Amino acid sequence: MQFQWYPGHMMKAKRQMQEDLKLIDLIIELVDARIPGASRNPDIDALGKQKSRLILMNKADLADEKKTESWKRYFMDKGYSAVCLDARSKSGMKKIQNAILEACKEKIERNRRRGILNRPVRAMVVGIPNVGKSTFINTYAGKACAKTGNRPGVTKGRQWIRLNKNTELLDTPGILWPKFEDPKAGLYLALIGSIRDEILNLNEMALSLLTFCKEAYPGALLERYDIEEEAEASGLLSQIARKRNCVKKGEELDFDRVSTLILDDFRSGRLGRFTLETPEDGGWHERG
Ligand code: G4P
Repeated sequence: MQFQWYPGHMMKAKRQMQEDLKLIDLIIELVDARIPGASRNPDIDALGKQKSRLILMNKADLADEKKTESWKRYFMDKGYSAVCLDARSKSGMKKIQNAILEACKEKIERNRRRGILNRPVRAMVVGIPNVGKSTFINTYAGKACAKTGNRPGVTKGRQWIRLNKNTELLDTPGILWPKFEDPKAGLYLALIGSIRDEILNLNEMALSLLTFCKEAYPGALLERYDIEEEAEASGLLSQIARKRNCVKKGEELDFDRVSTLILDDFRSGRLGRFTLETPEDGGWHERG
């Protein structure tokens, strides 16, 4: 699902989020593990000031494991709980419950001191489009979980999914806008496929990606396309076009087709498990 954001949408999303936040203890924020910085909403920290926080680095199956670990340390150093995840896999969900309780332990302890026992933690999932919010809720909540508050006579409004005796989850995720105003974040979001390709220059994106691959993951292009990696990005693109028979009539290379092919290979993980940014980003995008 890809979105176009306008100031009106952003205001509405922000207002909705402020309303929902009144109901919850914990914000479960999903980010894309391939771009954990650029896939965060720019206002989430200000919006969620008083709340417990858990960051789920989703699509970790597509990301570089070492870099995911360094991002995890980075988030934890900043005081968040952080867990990496493949939201499609049920087996990854076991660690989530512990992480939720860990993230809320101060709140649970405060309640306990006040004599409030067995009050479930109320959580909501938030994130920019396409990070896997719905997938996560479906996998985590599963079919077995009864929705509360959807019986006749119960006040209309937000519905809660009772996950277990300790946790309830708001059934609709908060959708927030990405950092598209930052050109670097815009490029990263485009590369992972979060911005509609039609409004982007495919050739430039593919060239940036090739520059990145060559520098950050030497050998990956050779392995996938059997090409000479020493060339400039434009030379790499031409080599791949020839290898993959991306030619128009008259032997002219079809750069749009080869660019799409490379981007698809990257987005599906066929090129390898790549993370585009590190906490101390190297700036490869400026050299492309
Ligand atoms: P959203 O609610 O945040 O907008 O995201 P959603 O759950 O719809 O997930 C977006 C796409 O990402 C889905 O692919 C989903 O299967 C995929 N996805 C979610 N979590 C993971 C994960 O941990 N790993 C991987 N590899 N993929 C994940 P889709 O429906 O096929 O959409 P698309 O890929 O055709 O855009």
